[in-house]
Amino acid sequence: MPRENFKIIVVDDESSFLLLLTKILEDEGYTVKGVSDPEVAIEIIDSFSPNLLITDLKMPKIDGIKLMEAVKSRNADVDFIMITAFATVDTAVSAMKSGAFDYITKPLKDPEQLRIVVSKVYGKQALLRENRFLKSETTQGMPPIKIIFAGMEDLLAETREVAATDATVMLYGETGTGKTLIAKTIHHLSGRTGPFVDINCAAIPENLLESEMFGYEKGAFTGAVSRKIGKFELANDGTIFLDEVSEMSPALQAKFLKALQDRTFERLGSLITLTTNARIVAATNRDMKGLVDEKKFREDLFYRLNVFPINIPPLRERKKHIPEIINYIIKIISARHGKEFSPLSGDKIKMLSDYSWPGNIRELENIIERSVIISRGYELNLPELTAMYEKTNEAEDGGGDSCGGDLRSLEKTAIEKALIKAGTRKKAAEALGISLRTLQYKIKEYGIR
Ligand SMILES: Nc1ncnc2c1ncn2[C@@H]1O[C@H](COP(=O)(O)OP(=O)(O)OP(=O)(O)O)[C@@H](O)[C@H]1O
Ligand SMILES: [Mg+2]
Repeated sequence: MPRENFKIIVVDDESSFLLLLTKILEDEGYTVKGVSDPEVAIEIIDSFSPNLLITDLKMPKIDGIKLMEAVKSRNADVDFIMITAFATVDTAVSAMKSGAFDYITKPLKDPEQLRIVVSKVYGKQALLRENRFLKSETTQGMPPIKIIFAGMEDLLAETREVAATDATVMLYGETGTGKTLIAKTIHHLSGRTGPFVDINCAAIPENLLESEMFGYEKGAFTGAVSRKIGKFELANDGTIFLDEVSEMSPALQAKFLKALQDRTFERLGSLITLTTNARIVAATNRDMKGLVDEKKFREDLFYRLNVFPINIPPLRERKKHIPEIINYIIKIISARHGKEFSPLSGDKIKMLSDYSWPGNIRELENIIERSVIISRGYELNLPELTAMYEKTNEAEDGGGDSCGGDLRSLEKTAIEKALIKAGTRKKAAEALGISLRTLQYKIKEYGIR
């Protein structure tokens, strides 16, 4: 940050001292406002938005401490330096205890003293800003945990391979299979320097989706009080993640197709054409080809998005690897809760491997996390799962279907149980770790009442 962007307000009712401080700091290149009345300082906080206030401690109407409290309640990031006469250094020390950065004495023995303490605040704030920036960059782009590729090793190779290119990627997978995680991984491995920008096409109301994506100019519509940068623009040099892409309205599909074709777009209410080099990763849990056949999704857009399709298998198709996946997840989650468990018994492993996991890894994580929390001692208890499993076996004794039938009945029973236990569909979906939409779909599919 250049020094002229570092803004300081000096408050002192003694005008000669006020002038002296203002002059020294202006000569240093800072932007400085001197005021003799603390109330005026409070009034201009929002419009001037200072980084630092240097204030006399003893003033007639509002003292320095009161002023600091008033300002910090509006903007906690503002730093304070207190001005004090020699006699009241004790007060200055207590001011520092209550949150002031430092103090200087009046009269000023040496201008250098002032320069140094102000440059310390300047340095501290610059560092803070940089850290915040770095943090938002890395936590945004980086996958939160190590991805377990057991049972989908091809997918690891595909992910690596495609990350290195600029190709548009389409991720197919049921809820909780790791689409978002893989999208972040692709962004991370691509080495792109811009942000990872997430757009959930199902969560944003249709009429807002366009302005979210492309932004708007001030006055583009009622309520557009200032210019807004869209996600497309934000994702320059980065990645745009279009989650639940099947849910885009036909109108937006058309706009989006154009943006994808020539990499240009306009903010709403603007005639200026902007370009973007954002990498596109889309995801869906629907059968896109089917939607195209039913004319619910534009064929041309589908082919633009489906350049590099990646299928993420559901957990029940990674059966052989479930023990390995479970052990890893137990290790991570128990460490998070400061616990340690002895290895799972064979029965438990079998139970976990047999279950159909409609909510995939998310559901597995949820069940393990709840189990870790309630388990005492070294044995990990899985009461939730045991109950579901027993219920299913009872049901199975009557039936005795093929393997596919087993899975379906397992899943159906799990859903029925969750619905009874939770009372509402929303809560049941949460308990199962699946989206409400997936739950509704399954309820219909199995004819659950
Ligand atoms: N292969 C994996 N390795 C480790 N953790 C995984 C893996 N796949 C998914 N997870 C974890 O499971 C949870 C769900 O993953 P994610 O959110 O990526 O799924 P999703 O497919 O995007 O689901 P949705 O369709 O509901 O958005 C996350 O906590 C994620 O960290
Ligand atoms: Mg997701």
